[in-house]
Amino acid sequence: MTRKILLTGGAGYIGSHTYAALCEAGYDVAILDNFDNARPDVPDRLEVITGKPVTVHRCDILDPAALARVFASDHFDGVVHFAARKAVGESQRMPLEYIETNCTGLINLLKAMRAAEVFNIVFSSSATVYAPTTDWPIPEGAALGYASTYAYTKLMGEQIIAQVAAADPRWHYGVLRYFNPAGAHTSALLGEDPSDIPNNLMPYIAKVATGELPALNVFGNDYPTPDGTGVRDYIHVMDLARGHVLSLTELIERGNSHTLNLGTGQGYSVLDMLNAYSRACGKELPYVVAPRREGDLDCYYGDPTKAEALLGFRAERGLDAMCADSWAWVSRKSNMRGQG
Ligand code: UFG
Repeated sequence: MTRKILLTGGAGYIGSHTYAALCEAGYDVAILDNFDNARPDVPDRLEVITGKPVTVHRCDILDPAALARVFASDHFDGVVHFAARKAVGESQRMPLEYIETNCTGLINLLKAMRAAEVFNIVFSSSATVYAPTTDWPIPEGAALGYASTYAYTKLMGEQIIAQVAAADPRWHYGVLRYFNPAGAHTSALLGEDPSDIPNNLMPYIAKVATGELPALNVFGNDYPTPDGTGVRDYIHVMDLARGHVLSLTELIERGNSHTLNLGTGQGYSVLDMLNAYSRACGKELPYVVAPRREGDLDCYYGDPTKAEALLGFRAERGLDAMCADSWAWVSRKSNMRGQG
């Protein structure tokens, strides 16, 4: 029997890749999105990739009545919940909006699910819920904490779900803590598409490669790392998407709740990333060394062994694939703009 899944935030960066991965795994998927931070033509591109019509519910998770209508329209076997605000810096300036969308929105969703008797949820969390540590790789049992309102809302989200599940055994949840998602869909039809100057490394490098930005600012080259620049655990967004499919299947087929890191266990520096992207786009990309960014850690990478033991999940695509796929995506977009 085909299982039906609702994907909140399904038109966003990770959500859209997960849509494609779920369809490929045989799930029947509907998207719920308010398109605040997603391009309106993402569903059209998903139709090209999957060869099937895409069901979209334009809906805000802060609107309980609209959520109830979505759950009344169909029976879902599970929900993958991406819809959230996600910029760390912005969360410091807009704490109430972050708490409202990420926590109240989650509560609205859980209530709508309970009313419709849908009890499987995969929750998009972040490695930002770990307290700063010098003990890498970070296992799931490491101390938790938060250094931003964004991190606070993700930690709160995890705890809300755990409380709800503790009170009612019908609930099953998969909490997935992402490290640094990067890359794009191999079709070059999906990818990260920030309209402003990107905060994150990979989309910033991509804009240097297309010539939209002059040079990468490397935030600090005096960290205690092999080349002095910050080290992170970059994971290909298609690997990340596959992790959601495995998590959901574990809930639906076996009822096993879990909290897992989704990373590679491998750290790469800012300069490793820049060099890999230079190889992918075939030209040397310029950079300047800038002061350290406030709040940055020198090194941050996850222990992926639990996800492998429970789900058989292992990241398969390395740094070169992340850069090549990102470059294929951004160069296709900038060619289209040139023709436009
Ligand atoms: N960096 C630069 N120049 C830039 C952007 C980033 O040198 O223009 C460096 C940073 O200093 C850091 C590395 O590149 O060393 C990665 O930075 P990102 O901003 O891409 O990612 P972060 O690790 O800081 O943040 C990510 C997610 C957050 C999440 C956090 C912790 O974007 O949502 O991981 O899990 F909270």
